[in-house]
Amino acid sequence: MKKILVTGGAGYIGAHTIIRLAGSGYEPVILDNFSNTDERVLKGLREILGRDVTLYRVNCTDREALDDVFRRERPDGVIHFAAYKAVAESVAEPLRYYHNNLLSLIHLLACMEVHGCHDLVFSSSCTVYGQPKQNPVTEQTPRLPANAPYGRTKQMGEDIITDFCAAHPDFRCALLRYFNPVGAHESGLIGELPYGVPGNLVPFLTQVAAGVRSELVVFGNDYGTSDGSCIRDYIHVMDLAEAHVAALGYIRSGNPGCAIFNLGQGLGHSVLDVIKTFTDVTGVKVSYRIGDRRPGDVEQIWADVALASQELRWKTTRTLSDALRDAWNWQVRLISESHSG
Ligand code: UD1
Repeated sequence: MKKILVTGGAGYIGAHTIIRLAGSGYEPVILDNFSNTDERVLKGLREILGRDVTLYRVNCTDREALDDVFRRERPDGVIHFAAYKAVAESVAEPLRYYHNNLLSLIHLLACMEVHGCHDLVFSSSCTVYGQPKQNPVTEQTPRLPANAPYGRTKQMGEDIITDFCAAHPDFRCALLRYFNPVGAHESGLIGELPYGVPGNLVPFLTQVAAGVRSELVVFGNDYGTSDGSCIRDYIHVMDLAEAHVAALGYIRSGNPGCAIFNLGQGLGHSVLDVIKTFTDVTGVKVSYRIGDRRPGDVEQIWADVALASQELRWKTTRTLSDALRDAWNWQVRLISESHSG
């Protein structure tokens, strides 16, 4: 059984990917420092998988600790999720972002080199496109200057890996450019666990619907879109998890070098669409008001996913409605657990 080290494996996308890896005949090993997640994810994973997953509480910026994990586990491949991801926070604390996101990647690549591990799947983001001139974006669409240090760490991460692949012809990598991951596992046992005030739309929306927060602010309704609010490509986190397994299979079946794939649903939805769809599928009204634009937001972006569907033989099977229903189930469960202590 091939062993896959999953950095950030207790995080939002990481934990959902662990489920699909385990269900696809891989042996996942979680490496996480729990800086942006907690034990509830492990409990959910245990319930879904019926067993524990090997876990290392390690920070990827700790080279010695990382080396030790490679020595003990001898992984066949790595999926690297571990990174900071809050756009606004990255503007306020750029050094923390550059230090964490870049140093962890450099240490990881160095460990892979030393320990003869050649297969890497990397979490990149549609943020590398900036505001594209045309939609949908393909992998050939030029990267534009990112709007925030967070986005720059993703661009730099892609560049570091590309250079590393060029110097190591036996290295195989998939750079996965995620659009907007939303939703939760259909069991309601795991999902996103935002710390403090959620920065992202869907966890904020479900908290308003649950009465944890009083109202959602829609960041601008004067954009050049049909209803004036921003447009994004929302992808169910389980579809995204499945794409990681497909990408691993793709590089492991003899595709050296650095492949890039857009991972979205291939559809654009406005913020107001998301709010309406949420109420349609859950029956729960969401109190919202229109506020100012959020600095750094792009107006609209959605993906062309033809390459991923062709090369990875993968496609999304879940809709935005499915994702919002699953995110709501997860939110309801979180609330009921917090009430039961
Ligand atoms: C951003 C990044 C993305 C990254 C993600 C992780 C960019 C362009 N995109 O996504 O790469 O993976 O963060 O955190 O940098 N909105 C509201 N009210 C809210 C929250 C959000 O109206 O309270 C709107 C935003 O203006 C946006 C949409 O909802 O139009 C989605 O926002 P969000 O969930 O924060 O994700 P992005 O900013 O698209």
